[in-house]
Amino acid sequence: MRQRQEIQGMPRPPGLIRTDDAYWDGIAAQYVVSQDFINLENGYFGIEAEPVFAAFQRYQREIHDLNSAFLRLHWPQRLAHVMQVLARFCGVSPEELHVTRNAVESMNILVQGYPFKPGEAILMAQHDYDSVGEAADMVAERKSLSVRRIAVPLDPQSDGEIVSLYEQALTPSTRVIVLTHIVHRTGQIMPVARIAAMARARGVDVFVDSAHAFAQLDIQLPELGVDFIGANLHKWLGAPLGVGLLYIRRERVRDIAPLFGDRSHALDDIRKFSHVGTVPPASILAIEDAIAFHEQIGSANKEARLRELKEYWVGKARSIPRVTLLTPRDPQRACAIAAFRIEGMQAQAVADLLLRDHGIFTVVREIEGGQGVRVTPHLYTSKPQLDRLVQALQQITASL
Ligand SMILES: Cc1ncc(COP(=O)(O)O)c(C=O)c1O
Repeated sequence: MRQRQEIQGMPRPPGLIRTDDAYWDGIAAQYVVSQDFINLENGYFGIEAEPVFAAFQRYQREIHDLNSAFLRLHWPQRLAHVMQVLARFCGVSPEELHVTRNAVESMNILVQGYPFKPGEAILMAQHDYDSVGEAADMVAERKSLSVRRIAVPLDPQSDGEIVSLYEQALTPSTRVIVLTHIVHRTGQIMPVARIAAMARARGVDVFVDSAHAFAQLDIQLPELGVDFIGANLHKWLGAPLGVGLLYIRRERVRDIAPLFGDRSHALDDIRKFSHVGTVPPASILAIEDAIAFHEQIGSANKEARLRELKEYWVGKARSIPRVTLLTPRDPQRACAIAAFRIEGMQAQAVADLLLRDHGIFTVVREIEGGQGVRVTPHLYTSKPQLDRLVQALQQITASL
């Protein structure tokens, strides 16, 4: 087994939450990013830390040099090892995991492979990810299902209010709830475990879209109490682009038909999903390095820092006239991601100005029937950079 990489000079006991900026400057130094602009659009994918990128390049070299001998002689054992490491990190068995290309692929395997019968229904929220919703609508058309979408408030009185909304929207035909763990538009964290418990009691399955929650939140998969989870590893875990994750509780693997694959594995063997053709092994091998880097920081520590960065700019931006925050008020109901709009300006015009005049890169998302500018810092983001964002918002609004 390979040596775990150490972040030089920064050993930390697990579970310790660091609030000192000097420590975080040391973490930030492990990321090499363009100095030409301030990237506050880390929601698309998460840049790899340098030790992960270096490992990825080493693997590329090795695979290139050995060519098909790598794939034929070494790949099965190397993959099995990565799956062990990943399973330990997730708190599940390797027989419950399959590495996909991304979260959309994982969610498609679930939505398209589920044994729906005509007349059954899928329950979702209006804020769920568009391509996952598209997959649900496509399957609904094909299999004569219905898809219902509910609105979820950003500032509920309690988790119970959200659970009730889902519960009240269930009908006798609802077979599956598709549930986004962290909403990509607003950063809202959904009470997944509580919704899942309610659904389980009603005999309804839950597919969790954990694209943003995986490795952003300090949670292991079994804590969610669901049988089906799709995620990616190239956002918050910081693995190279092109790796996703599918979790299916062992007893339920049989229930999902492979989207790709073959008949060489038993129906209850998760490897039935795996024969998708030749895969890019370097990205998959680097999952181990991404986990090692993540664990040096620690899940709780990382979640706390990301929330601190979000709260840092959101706290200042809330008092700027004309700025409306489109993210939960309760700091615990969101983590890294938040969004805003400026009264009297199109969101795209704001994002364009931020980039052109202030060198700050953000993205526009559809939020609650309108549009907002989404801001997503990363571990390499500094507070002075967030001050630049707040100053930019003050300037833009003052000129209106
Ligand atoms: C909630 C959610 N689901 C799914 C995805 C898709 O992730 P991927 O591009 O890795 O498939 C995203 C990406 O932003 C997302 O935010």
